[in-house]
Amino acid sequence: MDYKRSIIITGGAGFIGSHVVRLFANKYPDYKIICLDALTYAGNLANLKDVEEKPNYRFVKMDICDFDAVYALMQQEQVDGIIHLAAESHVDRSIKDPFTFARTNVLGTLSLLQAARLYWESLPEKYEGKRFYHISTDEVYGALEMTCPEGVEPPFTTKASSGKRHLAYGERFFTEDMKYQPHSPYSAAKASSDHFVRAFHDTYGLPVVVTNCSNNYGPYQFPEKLIPLFINNIRHRKPLPVYGKGENVRDWLYVEDHARAIDLIFHEGQDGDTYNIGGFNEWKNIDLIRVLIATVDRLLGRPEGADDDLITFVTDRAGHDLRYAIDSTKLQKELGWEPSLQFEEGIEKTVRWYLDHQDWLDNVTSGDYQKYYETMYAGR
Ligand code: NAD
Ligand code: TYD
Repeated sequence: MDYKRSIIITGGAGFIGSHVVRLFANKYPDYKIICLDALTYAGNLANLKDVEEKPNYRFVKMDICDFDAVYALMQQEQVDGIIHLAAESHVDRSIKDPFTFARTNVLGTLSLLQAARLYWESLPEKYEGKRFYHISTDEVYGALEMTCPEGVEPPFTTKASSGKRHLAYGERFFTEDMKYQPHSPYSAAKASSDHFVRAFHDTYGLPVVVTNCSNNYGPYQFPEKLIPLFINNIRHRKPLPVYGKGENVRDWLYVEDHARAIDLIFHEGQDGDTYNIGGFNEWKNIDLIRVLIATVDRLLGRPEGADDDLITFVTDRAGHDLRYAIDSTKLQKELGWEPSLQFEEGIEKTVRWYLDHQDWLDNVTSGDYQKYYETMYAGR
């Protein structure tokens, strides 16, 4: 079949990537969707079981740092779009092993940019109809202050989004024109990759678009991240390691809402532009953790408060950013995107999914899986 478009989605076997692959493969049967993933510890083909038989889907195991292989794949598949999500994504790992983050997030992105540029420049129509979409994070902006006065409940209400009031812990938000001030090796590597993407636009005219999204939650997230880790620990009555006092604030978005935003921006975003993605949904970690405990206990039929004593305050993360809060007004106004789920609904769906998919959790936390990862990365 002649496909209308041919798109590589990097990191498609990871958490967010698998939702993007699923959305595109189902919604656009006339697009060829190529999932390019190195299958690190975070990549898992079980995340894509329901799309693997689709005729418009292909999986390619490849390292984004392998420039020759990426270039050859682009030629072979006559790729006209790249949606780039592949990355090392966990802050705690970046503190232990910053080199891997620089390699994948910076050099890997550079390798993709260069392959896209050289391949597209070799075509008669050059950049016409092409798009390089880079997925970044709000963490590149650094940390915001908390100006919400102590003891005020509900938290400081300050700003309207789509006519709704929302809760915020401070007056400032991350906007697209904000200065980059990354603090962790993870966010420093992401920031660096964002700069390379914009440099390729400004220097070579590569048709790029960049988005910076807040924390995602939902099915298929690797259980080293707060929400899946804690759901699994509550179920098994294991301690919940809360960093510091649990006062840090994160802005949470349901992963399918992120995937919908990516679809919209891939098709309608302006070349060279940046969009922040977030649902105006700030939570202090400790409050979120209490919601998780209450939801897991309710769904498992345990008495209220049965697992509150699992909360264990531990040494804070080094350089722990205090508050993230995205202002997505531009995306809402210019492209008409809105989050579809209320947080309560999203959390309930997410907790149910993890409770119903213990096999998935057991598989990704099993010794065999970890051994595979260690072998793959030995000697790096
Ligand atoms: P993830 O860790 O779940 O998945 C990353 C994927 O990239 C995995 O499938 C992994 O195998 C693959 N990968 C890693 N190194 C690779 C390499 N060298 N070559 C090819 N593939 C490689 O990450 P995620 O949480 O799904 O995040 C996806 C993207 O979204 C990242 O770029 C991240 O910075 C960004 N982001 C994440 C969040 C979040 O809350 N998770 C928020 C905003 C932005
Ligand atoms: P995480 O899911 O690692 O995302 P990020 O650091 O990229 O925001 O962590 C979310 C928040 O939860 C963050 O403030 C750190 C905190 N946290 C804990 O308190 N304990 C944990 O075990 C983890 C993994 C995170």
